[in-house]
Amino acid sequence: MTVNEELIQPKDAIQRLILIILGMIFLAIVVIVGWYLHQISDPYIHEVLSRQGDVSRGQAIFEINCAGCHGLEADGIVGPSLHHVQKHKSKISLIQQVISGNTPPMPKFQPSPQDMADLLSYLEKL
Ligand code: HEC
Repeated sequence: MTVNEELIQPKDAIQRLILIILGMIFLAIVVIVGWYLHQISDPYIHEVLSRQGDVSRGQAIFEINCAGCHGLEADGIVGPSLHHVQKHKSKISLIQQVISGNTPPMPKFQPSPQDMADLLSYLEKL
């Protein structure tokens, strides 16, 4: 079969391309918003975010559970320094980082919502 090139209008091709790009942008937005809504609807994360964290309790929890790898001052040993970690990680990703166990050798922790809220307030002060 031969393609009749006169039938393919460049204008049509550009319009189709724009439609495809718009469609992809739209899909990406739907996926991102959906993911975000899914995260904040997680009951544990919701519970943590609704609590007021106590920085000094958070620091005590950190020293017991995390300092072995991240250092007493959170400046890094086995695990990376956590200073200014809140600049590239949202509250939700910080919670995920602690509870998921997705980045071995960092273990999966299961702090109570209050302990997690305290830890979060400490991490955000670093
Ligand atoms: C066994 C060692 C170990 C322990 C214990 C540990 N971590 Fe980690 N942590 C790591 C390592 C290794 C990474 C880097 C993981 C990667 O991204 O590959 C990391 C990454 C992180 C990050 C992300 C850093 C970034 O720049 O994105 C945060 C936040 C964090 N840890 C917090 C904690 C907290 C809070 C605790 C205590 C509840 C803890 N960690 C306990 C080893 C540990």
